[in-house]
Amino acid sequence: MKILGIVGSPRRNGNTDLLLAELLKGAVSKGADVQTIYLSKLKITPCEHCDACLKEGKCRIQDDMQMIYDELGKADVIVLASPVQFSGPPAQVKAMIDRCQGLWVRKYVLKIPPLSRERIRKGFLISVGARHMKDMFEPTLGIVKTWFHVLEIEYAGELLFSKVDEKGAILRQPDALQKAYEAGQKLAEGIIYIKTPYLEKKE
Ligand SMILES: Cc1cc2nc3c(=O)[nH]c(=O)nc-3n(C[C@H](O)[C@H](O)[C@H](O)COP(=O)(O)O)c2cc1C
Repeated sequence: MKILGIVGSPRRNGNTDLLLAELLKGAVSKGADVQTIYLSKLKITPCEHCDACLKEGKCRIQDDMQMIYDELGKADVIVLASPVQFSGPPAQVKAMIDRCQGLWVRKYVLKIPPLSRERIRKGFLISVGARHMKDMFEPTLGIVKTWFHVLEIEYAGELLFSKVDEKGAILRQPDALQKAYEAGQKLAEGIIYIKTPYLEKKE
């Protein structure tokens, strides 16, 4: 079982980074092989809509996204850790997702698998936001679920935490790290669908 963690936050050791690290610890405790990619350390040019990918479903831009295509192909589980910024994912995450347009072309235009079908992949989202509002994660969920759907990655759930703002604030949320650790264990064991009801907490 290979789990690929993608940190979308520009903040190193930020809240989503801490949650992902804990999730991956849980996964390792169940024997998973894990890897973490920090998008903010990479060069990922935004999609230029040049339509070069229409030919073969491949992006012509040679940057770190080429490595991400490979890693997506090799992973059994992809965990995206993305804070909420202006209601949606940060630019680093959106750039990576938009650069998967070639995979969209493979699936819908060329009618070939976006990623190899030798494994069934699962996708999981970790997100946090400073606010505490109904639907505050909906834009992020919509974008990430669309990304997983296009890449034929089965949605395996999410861990969402509201009222988390300054660096390290997640450490003060009761049970958050424990939930992340357990989610990692469950993902490594192949359990599908994990969810945190973030608005059930008391104000
Ligand atoms: C540019 C920017 C925009 C933000 N927009 C939102 C927002 O729309 N809603 C929200 O709940 N939090 C928002 N936040 C707060 C972050 O989601 C919050 O600080 C979070 O804990 C950051 O997670 P990280 O440490 O993993 O980066 C924003 C933060 C930044 C820097």
